[in-house]
Amino acid sequence: MGPCVLVTGGAGYIGSHTCKALAQAGFRPLTIDDLSIGHARAVRWGPLEVGDIGDAAFVDTVLAHYRPVATLHFAASSIVEESIADPLRYYRNNVGNTLTLLDRLLAHGIRDLVFASSAAIYGVGRPGDDPPAQAPLSPYGQSKMTVERILQDMRGQGAINAVSLRYFNVCGADPDGEIGEDHIPETHLIPNVVSQARTGGRLAVHGTDYPTADGTCVRDYVHVTDLAQAQVAVLRRLATGQLAPCLDVGHGRGASILEVIAAVESSRGIRLDWYDAGRRRGDPAVLVAAAETLPGLLGHPPRFSDMATILDTTWKWQTAQAGV
Ligand SMILES: NC(=O)c1ccc[n+]([C@@H]2O[C@H](COP(=O)([O-])OP(=O)(O)OC[C@H]3O[C@@H](n4cnc5c(N)ncnc54)[C@H](O)[C@@H]3O)[C@@H](O)[C@H]2O)c1
Repeated sequence: MGPCVLVTGGAGYIGSHTCKALAQAGFRPLTIDDLSIGHARAVRWGPLEVGDIGDAAFVDTVLAHYRPVATLHFAASSIVEESIADPLRYYRNNVGNTLTLLDRLLAHGIRDLVFASSAAIYGVGRPGDDPPAQAPLSPYGQSKMTVERILQDMRGQGAINAVSLRYFNVCGADPDGEIGEDHIPETHLIPNVVSQARTGGRLAVHGTDYPTADGTCVRDYVHVTDLAQAQVAVLRRLATGQLAPCLDVGHGRGASILEVIAAVESSRGIRLDWYDAGRRRGDPAVLVAAAETLPGLLGHPPRFSDMATILDTTWKWQTAQAGV
């Protein structure tokens, strides 16, 4: 078994897929997760320690026992609308608890860290601008930007070797069908579209009056397995010290909500019933990376991020879950 890597939030959607990618690359993924959102059954490629990253004594015990060499930090609260309704909870979990985690990592001499940031930091500004020209639209986005800033300051002092990856819209499921997106409630478009297509009912489309070609929001969809493999590649390159402090993870092209609906309809030969549920707070009209960054991060073209594979893997995962 190779070196141990701490994965905070490893029982969650992206964290669990990254644990699988780490194990496939020869690492031993150690998950810390409080299971507030994630699921113990998703932790299949290494040990799970159940607890809060904000609990310093707990984190100390885990770090002393496993002695990880690096950290992939996913643990966070990440529903945009919820963050607008309860900002304090979001800043406490995403910033406050991250500070405790960082403090304990430094105390144990663990300096290498990859942080799960978000394109939500760009607000209505242009992705790729660094520093972002516009403020984030939500406390969630602001909390991610604050942690990025903290990591950059620590990196500037030589205290930590950290890279923040700004994900665009992560979607799809493990191509082997072992894990997938399992949120309650589910606020993301792809799993909701697939779920409606499988089971019927009406799909809520959040806004049809945005300044886009068809009036619906446009997003840059990245398959979770491509992202997980990119995380591992970035982890391997951390030691070079040559990575920029913040990197976008996107394709530089987007799809609107109606285009995603049309893709499901044509692949399954069905019609989806949808209605305009009105705009959601914190949603920019367009959030698409400035360029395709996956090949540079992965060292090869992304393998899973075409819409057909995203929809197929999500369908396969949901169908398997329904059969349980
Ligand atoms: N899913 C996306 O499209 C997307 C896009 C941009 C950024 N991100 C970021 O990527 C990360 C992972 O996203 P996800 O979709 O897998 O989320 P998720 O909610 O599925 O996973 C987060 C995990 O962290 C755990 N957790 C939360 N607070 C914790 C705490 N204080 N201590 C221990 N565990 C805690 C939860 O139980 C959960 O298992 C998050 O930081 C999120 O903000 C996700």
